[in-house]
Amino acid sequence: MSAIESPVSRVWWKQPLDRVEGAWIAIAFAWCLVLFFMMPYWHVYGKQNLSNEAYRTTPERYSQKTQEIVDKYTVRTETELKIPVVHPPAGSDVYLIARLWQWWPMLELEEGKTYRVHLASMDWLHGFSLQPENINVEVHPGYEHVVTMTPTKAGVYSIICNEYCGINHHAMASKLYVVKK
Ligand code: CUA
Repeated sequence: MSAIESPVSRVWWKQPLDRVEGAWIAIAFAWCLVLFFMMPYWHVYGKQNLSNEAYRTTPERYSQKTQEIVDKYTVRTETELKIPVVHPPAGSDVYLIARLWQWWPMLELEEGKTYRVHLASMDWLHGFSLQPENINVEVHPGYEHVVTMTPTKAGVYSIICNEYCGINHHAMASKLYVVKK
């Protein structure tokens, strides 16, 4: 019998399992289980994937919360757009807006302190990408994503949008400052 001719017996699938075939099914199944359990293992011990939370929100509610921290904790403004740089208290909730085509405001965090960084889109899908750390979060409209972050090294990080969001997608970049306290 060859693969391009019809099988001689029409009920070809009712044959006893060959030993080699059985062995390969067992190997493939065992490997599937290894990969399956590697996912939670790697999540916990590999420090690989973020444990983020997501809640429903609206642009109005979210921008109000963002405006509150901007009003309270702005330390300076940057670029000709006068984007506020916000230095919130260590350990607090910080808010970042993604919108066409801007991240607003800029954040200044302290090294070694843990923050709950909230992310939400005001219009459509954007991607929060922190470089060079390679932290990626899809920012969906209608949702407030919360990522618990502890910056470990002072410096200036770049935030870029890594979901194509229109004509100025490439210009949707910002900075994240991490300072020593
Ligand atoms: Cu926002 Cu691409």
